[in-house]
Amino acid sequence: MKKSFLGFFLLFVFLLSGTLVFAEMPGPDAPALWDYITKESPYKKWSFWPDHHGMQPGRAPHGPLHKVYINDKTLSSSKTPIQYGGIIVKENYSKSKELKAITLMYKIKDYNPDGGDWFWVKYGTDGKADVVGKPKGCIGCHGSHANNDFIFVHEFK
Ligand code: HEC
Repeated sequence: MKKSFLGFFLLFVFLLSGTLVFAEMPGPDAPALWDYITKESPYKKWSFWPDHHGMQPGRAPHGPLHKVYINDKTLSSSKTPIQYGGIIVKENYSKSKELKAITLMYKIKDYNPDGGDWFWVKYGTDGKADVVGKPKGCIGCHGSHANNDFIFVHEFK
């Protein structure tokens, strides 16, 4: 009797931990990902690249100022490719420092092997996604940095 209770208890713990691990990250789903980066793991609490802190000047098409936040999976990737689960969130600001849009890249296993397995989203400030998935525009331009895992603001050596 005791043994079977322990068995059930362990099974329960196992299932629970499994659920936590697998429920942690959303799939290629823009609304679920927005919830994830604003509620479950708020991106404003993430890190900056060591060499790209806080508000920085940017280039077209993203606008004059930006902040780039990276999650732990990205920060702890010391070389390319970024580990699966890596997310890079970029806040895009106007010259007067008004937040205009949020662009993001999210590394999902087998999502798009030709494009570094990045899932791309451009959100409005209300969290509505305007551009989602494997957009030719995002990939075309970021593709010039394919040997740096499609990333512009941080150089891997
Ligand atoms: C014409 C080129 C171009 C296009 C198109 C483009 N980007 Fe970028 N992207 C850049 C540049 C340049 C940077 C470096 C930061 C800056 O200058 O704003 C950047 C930075 C980023 C970053 C921060 C990570 C990094 O690369 O350092 C994200 C996230 C991002 N872009 C997402 C997107 C998304 C999503 C799209 C499509 C909706 C997109 N980009 C389209 C040029 C582009």
